[in-house]
Amino acid sequence: MSEHSANPSSATAATGRSRAVKAVIPAAGLATRFLPATKAVPKELLPVVDRPVLQYIVEEATQAGIGDVLLITGRGKTSMVDHFDRRPDLEARLEAKGDTERLAAVRGPSELAEIYTCRQPEQLGLGHAVGYAESHVGDQPFAVLLGDEFVKPAEPLLPAMLELQARTGGVVLAFFEVDPAETKRYGIASVEPAEAELTDIGEVVRVTGMVEKPTPEDAPSNLAVLGRYVLPSSIFDAIRRTKPGSGGEIQLTDAMELLRGEGTPVHAIVYRGTRYDTGMPLGYLQTVVQIAAERDDLGTEFRTWLAEFVKTDASGVTGT
Ligand code: G1P
Repeated sequence: MSEHSANPSSATAATGRSRAVKAVIPAAGLATRFLPATKAVPKELLPVVDRPVLQYIVEEATQAGIGDVLLITGRGKTSMVDHFDRRPDLEARLEAKGDTERLAAVRGPSELAEIYTCRQPEQLGLGHAVGYAESHVGDQPFAVLLGDEFVKPAEPLLPAMLELQARTGGVVLAFFEVDPAETKRYGIASVEPAEAELTDIGEVVRVTGMVEKPTPEDAPSNLAVLGRYVLPSSIFDAIRRTKPGSGGEIQLTDAMELLRGEGTPVHAIVYRGTRYDTGMPLGYLQTVVQIAAERDDLGTEFRTWLAEFVKTDASGVTGT
């Protein structure tokens, strides 16, 4: 656990609110962008070097002091849950061989957090998926971590978001800047400066409006909603009152905008760290290359090979 979980900040103590302690990971999607790879394998289990994407995400929650994780799953995706279970047969074999390193790697995921699951029987949108967390979450604020993106562990975002939410209440989001031509892929927000002080990972802003997947002409800015949210439990009622929006789906962005319009404060951190997006083939490849290049065990060799590879064209001729 990080230092953030051990000591509530003085600001938290001053407001009397406590940090969210549960996380919800919506992971029931069909991952059509990755077919046919995702026909039988959930996209959340695609490996980034030797760990599935979902393990990085659960580790991100754990490192922020969250020990209770609800996975929202769907048909054909139960192998995601198996990844966080024990494997006594495999463990016994590795133990007998004295392979302590692999034994630790196999046990690791099962020791990260308490993993709970629930099923979203139909994929009717991100807001609809989050709505299934209501009975698990109860009346406390909670974090939502989308199942196909994560941030660089050395540049953590979630602890600052949890602290900010405990201080301000309401909704806390994170934004990253996108090319104005790309707004159609994200929730986009308009903002104004906030009184809250700077965090060490980005400026804090107050949100004055949000729209899901606007065209560049309609986008209020180029600040895109990153897949990390800290939400009050009032979001569940707002989701129930949210009509299908972009793509005919019940959008979380629309439910948050409903709350904002009714007076719930919405703050965000404009994240300046590194975000990995594994939801599409190109972003997935970039993620694998970056993580591999930074690994202590194989980074040096991989970088040397990669540098050589990019110098060499497809016909095998070494360029200048
Ligand atoms: C979802 C959200 C969107 C957010 C994005 C971040 O979209 O609906 O607001 O900007 O995640 O990755 P999706 O990627 O599920 O289409």
